[in-house]
Amino acid sequence: TQSFRLGVAGLGTVGASVVRMIARRSEALRSMTGREIRVTAVSSRDKARDRGLDLAGVTWFDDPVALAGAGEVDCVIELIGGAEGPAKATVEAALAAGKHVVTANKALLAKHGAALAQAAEARGVALAYEASVAGGIPVIKALREGLAGNTVSRVYGILNGTCNYILTRMEREGLTFEACLKDAQALGYAEADPTFDVEGYDTAHKLAILTSLAFGVEIDAEGVSVEGISAIQPLDLKMAEELGYRIKLLGVAQAAAGGIEQRVHPTMVPLSSSIAQVMGVTNAVTIDADAVGELTLIGPGAGGEATASAVVADVADVAAGVLRTTFGRPSAHLAPPQRIAMQRHEGGYYIRL
Ligand code: HSE
Repeated sequence: TQSFRLGVAGLGTVGASVVRMIARRSEALRSMTGREIRVTAVSSRDKARDRGLDLAGVTWFDDPVALAGAGEVDCVIELIGGAEGPAKATVEAALAAGKHVVTANKALLAKHGAALAQAAEARGVALAYEASVAGGIPVIKALREGLAGNTVSRVYGILNGTCNYILTRMEREGLTFEACLKDAQALGYAEADPTFDVEGYDTAHKLAILTSLAFGVEIDAEGVSVEGISAIQPLDLKMAEELGYRIKLLGVAQAAAGGIEQRVHPTMVPLSSSIAQVMGVTNAVTIDADAVGELTLIGPGAGGEATASAVVADVADVAAGVLRTTFGRPSAHLAPPQRIAMQRHEGGYYIRL
């Protein structure tokens, strides 16, 4: 059996889960892909930390860019995070060296996805990113492959586990925003800079990726109108409930007159709707498409095992020779979406879907 050698850049919660999952699923992965998939290299800032991993025979790199260029690696798994700095340098180095890349980095893709996809195509390697949106929910596959026969008119959902966790606990326990955020950080759900979560930028990054796939356009994260949840008080949640609603931070992308509207804001959703039932760190994505009608996927949006599940799905695809690098629909003419300016509302969370 031909081997498929992985270099894991970043050994945080997700990275450690990926290393364990690849070992645990090695037999199944071999029969799925016809290849022996194994981790041959890792890199992390903190070598001393005990992660309970068996890294015997695995080469340790202090510098992820060196890992990206290393001879013993066929595919680089980038789990460093951040739109610039070492994450970007690692992905660029890997693609330049003709290595496949699997990444969970939505901030990087939101900003540089088009250029990175072009670099991957030029080298004939994969740039795979199932883990970048909605953790364990295979929404990239659903949109790109599963719904290839559909014209999509709208995609929306709960795309940030940290925000949904905070809103859930504020509502159920009457806790303050700050206390809930601290807990989300302690549980490893939040971004390194939690402003990205609570101010809606993480949702905007993920939404821009989904927009690209749903509508066959270039990623345009700058074109997303964004409002987060940091101003929400427990009283707001109570009032909404009295009116028959629950407040959720939604990302919404829809075809509108003259272009595609992309927005992120706290939204009043009817208590009876399925999206209102989505509590805790769970994510949900609803897709409106002409052939299938409405489809909703619900599942874990953050955390080590759920995100590793998406990373390993990409690894299996890439090992089997699947090379879908472009954003947008295959054969789509890629141009940025037409931006639609959003009116800012006083008390934006009274916006409905
Ligand atoms: N901070 C993100 C979230 C992690 O809370 O959803 C997953 O992308």
